[in-house]
Amino acid sequence: MSIPPTNLSYPNIAKGANNWQGLIETYRSYLPVSKATPVVTLLEGNTPLIPVPGIAAKIGRGVKVYVKYDGLNPTGSFKDRGMTMAISKAKEEGAKAVICASTGNTSAAAAAYARRADMKAFVVIPDGYVALGKLAQALLYGAEVIAINGNFDDALDIVRQLSENYPVTLVNSVNPYRLQGQKTAAFEVVDVLGDAPDWLCIPVGNAGNISAYWMGFTEYHQAGKCARLPKMMGFQAAGAAPLVSGEPVKNPDTLATAIRIGNPANWHKAIAVREASGGEFNPVTDTEILDAYRLLASEEGVFCEPASAASVAGLLKVKEQVPDNATVVCVLTGNGLKDPDCAVKHSQNQLKQGIPNDLEKVAKVMGF
Ligand code: F0G
Repeated sequence: MSIPPTNLSYPNIAKGANNWQGLIETYRSYLPVSKATPVVTLLEGNTPLIPVPGIAAKIGRGVKVYVKYDGLNPTGSFKDRGMTMAISKAKEEGAKAVICASTGNTSAAAAAYARRADMKAFVVIPDGYVALGKLAQALLYGAEVIAINGNFDDALDIVRQLSENYPVTLVNSVNPYRLQGQKTAAFEVVDVLGDAPDWLCIPVGNAGNISAYWMGFTEYHQAGKCARLPKMMGFQAAGAAPLVSGEPVKNPDTLATAIRIGNPANWHKAIAVREASGGEFNPVTDTEILDAYRLLASEEGVFCEPASAASVAGLLKVKEQVPDNATVVCVLTGNGLKDPDCAVKHSQNQLKQGIPNDLEKVAKVMGF
């Protein structure tokens, strides 16, 4: 079936709330697109910046904390920002198929946007280490899903070689259009706050997103849209923290499977961001990640996936360093629904099972 590839085919209905037309149309003048680019969009972007006062209270001293909830994108993660650009440009260049390695979210986004553009998507994933929701998405969107007996780094090696030797366009974050799309998240943060935050806390895996945010902040700074630049605070899972240790991790290990990466493709860019912003890379343990994950849901009503909670876990870990009265944004990269197994397994709140079908008994369980 052929799907019309562009929202230009439906000029009047391809709009979301407040006439939002997706991030390419909104930030067109900052992006490498032209009139000839077929815009492949699911109206991604425009995600909320949510105040989290309960988390701010744990720091005190007048610090304000927000989460950029990118789990509300069409496929449930920030990857949609990069994918609308990567797939639109691949379409413009005449590609018929795309490929990526993925810990899950990239594969879901690539699969969705590729179908939107009537292209084939191949995704190579580490067998057994992709959360159920992400796998379900890639399958239902119709991608060819290939699970290898290896980790993400192995999968990335394979897809790089495949894209060099076969007619498939690589849409991992080594594709420069991906970062171009993802930088728009920084624009949105500034558009809401009126300036850049003092700190940006962000989970780091392949290190594309931290590089993209920095690009966005610096471009907006140059354009006079913000007066300052944030300190970029990257957090990696302790078992997969090559940017902290300074060397690749051969067997990365963390329950935050999205960031189970030992040799980030954007290593040099990430180091440059740390240097330029006066930032840091710090590790967070799986226990700290789970604590932040539960805290976000139970205190703030925000359900993100475990890898995303690394940003909040990290902020709380280094909270003594936050300047008084600072504004901090933590990036929540993916939706909690991506990984229901983790939620059920690690919730301290237990399902009350085996209750008789009886009004009084139910009321009793409720404590009445
Ligand atoms: N958070 C989530 C939910 C992710 O899916 C990823 C990366 C990251 C953070 C880290 O972002 O790689 O730009 O530093 N997921 C990739 C994937 C690797 O295949 O979906 P990064």
